[in-house]
Amino acid sequence: WTAVMPSFLWMILLLSVPLAELALEKPKRSALNQLTRMLLRKYNCGVRPVQNWTDPTLIYIDLFIQSILDVDGQTQKVTTSIWYRQFWTDEFLVWDPEEFDGINEISLSSDAIWVPDVIVTEFVDVGRSPAIPYIYVNSSGTVKNYKPIQVVSACDLELYAFPFDKQNCTLTFRSWLHDVNEVDLTLWRSSEDIANDKRGFMNDGEWELLSVPSRYWQLHVDNRDYAHIQFNVLIRRRPLLYVVGLLIPSIFLMVVDVMSFYLPFNSGTRITFKTSTLLGYTVFRVNLMNEIPATAVKTPLIGVFFAVCMALLVLSLALSILVVKLLHHSEKEVKEMSISACLLDKYGSSTFNDSLFTSVRTLEDLDQSGESAIINQPSDDSAETDWLLLCEKVDRFLFRLYLLVLLMYSGTLLFLWSSWSSA
Ligand SMILES: *[C@@H]1O[C@H](CO)[C@@H](O)[C@H](O)[C@H]1NC(C)=O
Ligand SMILES: *[C@@H]1O[C@H](CO)[C@@H](O)[C@H](O)[C@H]1NC(C)=O
Ligand SMILES: *[C@@H]1O[C@H](CO)[C@@H](O)[C@H](O)[C@H]1NC(C)=O
Repeated sequence: WTAVMPSFLWMILLLSVPLAELALEKPKRSALNQLTRMLLRKYNCGVRPVQNWTDPTLIYIDLFIQSILDVDGQTQKVTTSIWYRQFWTDEFLVWDPEEFDGINEISLSSDAIWVPDVIVTEFVDVGRSPAIPYIYVNSSGTVKNYKPIQVVSACDLELYAFPFDKQNCTLTFRSWLHDVNEVDLTLWRSSEDIANDKRGFMNDGEWELLSVPSRYWQLHVDNRDYAHIQFNVLIRRRPLLYVVGLLIPSIFLMVVDVMSFYLPFNSGTRITFKTSTLLGYTVFRVNLMNEIPATAVKTPLIGVFFAVCMALLVLSLALSILVVKLLHHSEKEVKEMSISACLLDKYGSSTFNDSLFTSVRTLEDLDQSGESAIINQPSDDSAETDWLLLCEKVDRFLFRLYLLVLLMYSGTLLFLWSSWSSA
């Protein structure tokens, strides 16, 4: 009892104080409160706000692209953060500012009044947009509705030119249900203004906003016309990250592979070296394959580039193996002398001790002497030397062939990529 009684008394006290205040004060509402009550007293938020039902409601819409959050090649969807705004005239939300303390504009709950069902037709998922519970109404009945939206939209992504790609994603706004006789759409600002306005865009991400051209069109379905406003969001990827992370390491490995042709072909070093380059490239490629966006239909050219680089590394390894095979074939034929001893004496030590240029010169000398040796009938004691020279020639020929293929390939790619990135 002693515990219950004081709390009971407290309750009575707490309740009686506001009641007493209310009873004392005259119920005097603010102008804002009066106005809101006046406007919403007979308002039906389910009815399109026109006096004459044959008049269409014209919605002015506008859009600022704020950022490109995600571009997903696999599922073909793009997540865009936009600032959307629309206004229309509500013929039932009109008042005289003189009567209401000069109030020209008020905010109302967006649940309490009629709001058009304008949506983005490309939506595929619910974005995380904050709900804005208010809209602005001015005394002539203009209702302004501003809201940030995160649109997850379907977009036909063209990834062949990755990382030098441009995308054209459309955001089409329409009233999902009402045809053009009930709800019509138009642009708030001029089309040029919208196209070139990049003020709201956060320009430090992976994507660069090129422009946002827009147009109005009508879709004819079942004898009804539906108004559409289409914004084409044109964006371009900034390729630097991918060039540094994917292309340059790959090119380095290819250069190292080309240089390994200057290792003596008759020692085992070259094949070992090439095998480790190939292994390194495989590891590199496996690690970076998931950075490349993939579509089910088309691989980007860069994926083909990696595959071809790998094929070239395998080719260069195969060529070296071929030359070694040729060399050992000669060993079998020429049994009197140990070829390897001869190689070590004559070329093995001198070929790679000096710089690459010297070795090239040596090879050139060898080539000439080899040619002459083949033209003049070779004597018995120089048979294995001739064979060696022949192998050297084959090796050089294969090297040039490989270099040619590589140059043609990289030339084509460079041309394609530079034309894409400058276009
Ligand atoms: C509604 O508008 C149409 C065309 O503007 C007009 O012919 C019609 O008389 C109007 N109806 C009323 C009730 O004002
Ligand atoms: C209400 O807003 C519209 C659109 O901004 C404007 O054209 C109109 O003049 C405004 N009305 C008043 C009474 O300020
Ligand atoms: C973007 O796509 C739309 C239709 O999908 C097309 O009308 C427009 O011309 C395209 N814009 C560019 C610059 O390719």
